[in-house]
Amino acid sequence: METITNLIRKNILSLTPYSSARDEYKSNQGIFLDANENPYGNLNRYPDPYQWRLKQLLSSQQKVGIQNILIGNGSDEIIDLVQRVFGEPGQDQIIICPPTYGMYEVYANINNLAIISIPLTENFQLNTEAILAQNAKILYLCSPNNPTGNALENLEYIIENFKGIVFLDEAYIDFSEQPSLVSKIQQYPNLIVSQTFSKARGLAAARIGIAYANETIISVLQKVKPPYNISQLNQEAAVKALADETQFQNTVKVLKSEREKLKNALQQLDFVTRVYPSDANFLLVDMENATAIYEQLIEQQIITRNRSSVVPNTIRITIGTPQENQQLLYALQLVTI
Ligand SMILES: Cc1ncc(COP(=O)(O)O)c(C=O)c1O
Repeated sequence: METITNLIRKNILSLTPYSSARDEYKSNQGIFLDANENPYGNLNRYPDPYQWRLKQLLSSQQKVGIQNILIGNGSDEIIDLVQRVFGEPGQDQIIICPPTYGMYEVYANINNLAIISIPLTENFQLNTEAILAQNAKILYLCSPNNPTGNALENLEYIIENFKGIVFLDEAYIDFSEQPSLVSKIQQYPNLIVSQTFSKARGLAAARIGIAYANETIISVLQKVKPPYNISQLNQEAAVKALADETQFQNTVKVLKSEREKLKNALQQLDFVTRVYPSDANFLLVDMENATAIYEQLIEQQIITRNRSSVVPNTIRITIGTPQENQQLLYALQLVTI
């Protein structure tokens, strides 16, 4: 673990974190006159800063220790926290592999970290050699990748050989045939796997992201995160979502089957040149005049994402309900190119 500690910024290593009133007295029994809360009301108490209940459930579900889990205000917060823990502003660099999720770059700009861009190959896979030839603090990998939808290959080889932290974003893993690498966090001390309740769990409004990593990394992320980053209501919503495994499995099954149906239907359209294979809950679709079609869909109040600026002539379509997908197909029959 020595080397991981060496990657952490010195000021963060020596940081004394804020000690909240709830750090000092952990039971919920007693008269609470310690946190300047209002004694009246329903949501008058600060939430659990460690999100114990949620972590207990995730720990037994994922078969990792509670000390290997951090809960973020969405995985976006985790992307940022990792940069603030490991990236020295104005000095360190991160690697991104575009086209990919935009927030790695936005946070790097906010945190004043230089960006090394190593584009995916033509078939949207990693350029392994070019990545391993670089010296950077954090490597962001997204699998299945947004916006291309495919799962990345060769991940373990890269994790094993990369000298810095590998941040593996598994936001869409529940829709994928590729196994999660959460089970590998003890084997690879430089690996952080992030997941989210925003996609397959259907809780985007609740802002629940999860980081899985070894104890050294999690404890330092825990020191840096705002103490009450997850509201009581959102912790409860996440716990409730985990209790209904059947509902979760059913939703994923429906969305995956809708993805295949929509893919087949899109492929029948004359102006669609290619529907990329997807391991996620969206499809990247290559079409003639993508921007014009995107705009005509908006006129019919169907909102997709124009990705032509990152992959020429493409729109990204999220899988909706069967009825929404039908409406999309109907609207696409009305467009003129
Ligand atoms: C790859 C990827 N990572 C992370 C996120 C952000 O997720 P969260 O809602 O957990 O912040 C998204 C959202 O679209 C995403 O596509």
